[in-house]
Amino acid sequence: MLLDTYGRTATDLRVSLTDRCNLRCTYCMPEEGLDWLAKSTLLTDDEIVRLVRIAVTRLGVREVRFTGGEPLLRPGLVSIVQRCAALDPRPELSLTTNGIGLEKVAPALRDAGLDRVNVSIDTVDPETFHRLTRRRRLDDVLRGLAAAHDAGLTPVKVNSVLMRGVNDDQAPDLLAWAMEHGYELRFIEQMPLDAQHGWTRREMVTAEEILTSLRSRWSLVPEGDAARGSAPAERWLVDGGPYRVGVIGSVTRPFCGACDRTRLTADGQIRNCLFAREETDLRSALRADPAELGGIEQADERVAELWRAAMWGKKAGSGIDDPTFLQPPRPMSAIGG
Ligand code: 5AD
Ligand code: SF4
Repeated sequence: MLLDTYGRTATDLRVSLTDRCNLRCTYCMPEEGLDWLAKSTLLTDDEIVRLVRIAVTRLGVREVRFTGGEPLLRPGLVSIVQRCAALDPRPELSLTTNGIGLEKVAPALRDAGLDRVNVSIDTVDPETFHRLTRRRRLDDVLRGLAAAHDAGLTPVKVNSVLMRGVNDDQAPDLLAWAMEHGYELRFIEQMPLDAQHGWTRREMVTAEEILTSLRSRWSLVPEGDAARGSAPAERWLVDGGPYRVGVIGSVTRPFCGACDRTRLTADGQIRNCLFAREETDLRSALRADPAELGGIEQADERVAELWRAAMWGKKAGSGIDDPTFLQPPRPMSAIGG
């Protein structure tokens, strides 16, 4: 099991498959992109599947989510999903994507064993989409969403980030659109994880503001804490239900006490928190010669031990609200969402 000193158990693994992306969301990366990770440091498909196997067979991980960057840019994605679905015990498998290219690959992902997708879309207005992502790809994303829905990757969840002065007036329109299409919408507060370090507490749109904005059109009734569990989203029944909307208040309503996540970067580092400043290298251990450790069993156990130690050191909270908070050196696109 992956325990920490505050009594939490991590059962939900996020795997970043690449730090690259075909969008340039302003809250994530600069126009020119980033210095991408060198190929030799990226985990291979075999190494990823091996780590997921270690996680489900030795460490109690039950859910695996593939993220990026943009995970659909990883050539081996379908085969990685298929091999992870064949593991025993079989983990729940999901994907967080910007939706570009999903139209083509959704059926293959479903056949490979993917259970669900989360698609990031912050606006359904083409001009605002261009302003936010610096690309004219809204139609690709919308077609990707529809294809995921048709392929049965349901419930299709939609993640939206609101940016002040850009799309902060569009929350009700987004909810109307999501309800019309049967997508489950969740708003995520903007977090200090952008490569440019442009986030400010003063500028961010808070959960409270999002709820106020939605209430201009609907009545919202909280679903209650029992429904939240370890899920970060607080959920609200829209006009009495059955439709729900989620709000993830990572900054103003932190849920660190219930966190059950462990994160693997595309270059094989374990992070015990999105906001952690330290990482634990598993790549070297993965690439060590098993013969020197007495065989593959022992080599796997060595990796598992390093992973347990990484999680044991998890802090109580992200510390965003502390004046001494320092943004982690790596941006979200390199950590995995
Ligand atoms: N704050 C909040 N959400 C972010 N995402 C990316 N960067 C940030 C940020 N700084 C979102 C993406 C996607 C998910 C992986 O995280 O929009 O929905
Ligand atoms: Fe790409 Fe996601 Fe970053 Fe946007 S937020 S640039 S879609 S990785």
